[in-house]
Amino acid sequence: MKNLKTIVIMSGMFALMAMPLKAQKWEHLADTPQMGWSTWNKFQGNISEDIIKGIADAMVENGLREAGYTYINIDDCWHGQRDGNGFIQVDPVKFPNGMKAVADYVHSKGLKLGIYSDAGTATCGGMPGSLGHEYQDAIQYARWGVDYLKYDWCNTTNVNPQGAYQLISDALRAAGRPIFLSMCEWGNSRPWKWAREVGHSWRTTPDIWCDFDSLRVFPGYTQFGVMQCIQFNDSLRQYAGKGYWNDPDMLEVGNGMTENEDRAHFTMWCMMASPLILGNDLRNMSDATRNIIMNKDMIAIDQDTLGVQGWHYCDKDGLQFWFKPLAGNDWAFTILNPTRSDITYELNWQDFNLTDQQVSGLSTDFGSKVYKVFNLWTHKQEGKTSLKSKVDRKITVKSRDVVSYRLSL
Ligand code: GLA
Repeated sequence: MKNLKTIVIMSGMFALMAMPLKAQKWEHLADTPQMGWSTWNKFQGNISEDIIKGIADAMVENGLREAGYTYINIDDCWHGQRDGNGFIQVDPVKFPNGMKAVADYVHSKGLKLGIYSDAGTATCGGMPGSLGHEYQDAIQYARWGVDYLKYDWCNTTNVNPQGAYQLISDALRAAGRPIFLSMCEWGNSRPWKWAREVGHSWRTTPDIWCDFDSLRVFPGYTQFGVMQCIQFNDSLRQYAGKGYWNDPDMLEVGNGMTENEDRAHFTMWCMMASPLILGNDLRNMSDATRNIIMNKDMIAIDQDTLGVQGWHYCDKDGLQFWFKPLAGNDWAFTILNPTRSDITYELNWQDFNLTDQQVSGLSTDFGSKVYKVFNLWTHKQEGKTSLKSKVDRKITVKSRDVVSYRLSL
């Protein structure tokens, strides 16, 4: 009898030992796509404590925090060296008071702080990477009061992506402070197929550049314009959802495209339930830029609680027609004009009876439902949809611009 008891206890212990020691990622940090700002698109490595503080002030003064933008993310090139025990330090010239002081300032404004590292030996900007220091780095970020980590993929020869991202996810969990994990390996290893439990968002594309519709080719890598990001990201909608988002990269609104291109860029990121990480200098922006990034009706499309990425349903007359199902049986409907000319379209609602077979199963049912039509850029009600098969309205969509509606019952 005693022997049997011993055997039962021991086999229980072996079963426990055989269980994989896999931690869960931090939950409920990404029930809707993350919103914030990052240093990279505007400043690259030319960053400092003063810039971060100034941006935090501008976030609050401009009402961006109230509009939902939460994170201030310090991207590459904040690093100093590792200390004698291997703990990473900040660049003492750029951040003379250390990272904790920056975090405290950002938190005092009701905002959160993001930081950046890389799974390889060095970051893309040549700073120390996290390889071999994952748990130490996670502890350091938690001590500093960091809330968000973007984890990049340069200098990773011989590193396995699934293993590397699971490792940093486990390390962040073990460090005890809820930290958002933004995965950035540009879609190379198809993270949408394996990373739902690992990270909160994953980049689907190479780096964006501030251009509406062209590739920028360098030896060894290529950057995507807005249209290239949209096209590729659209093919992955079935993989995104509450807690894990496709990330077609940070916004370039306010960095040099025309106002209509910026409006189209922002709208399409919202239609695709993408992270909204601003990339312009918030301390100094035009009214046009402010109006775009502060459009609360459009932000609500991005942040909708149904959490479904919209899709490119069809093309007609050179225009793209996009639909996004929303909570409460509403729909967002956007006509995107990617061409160089303005186009006028005669809209018959009955041409758009569709069902989202891929994700939500929801249908527009324009044959039996009448929706109110709210213009998301003029903020005006524009009548209702029609049950009859007829041209209901003429819509002019400017070159490289959108017309976008919220349809509600
Ligand atoms: C990579 C990332 C960018 C940015 C830079 C920083 O290219 O994809 O978003 O973080 O590194 O060096």
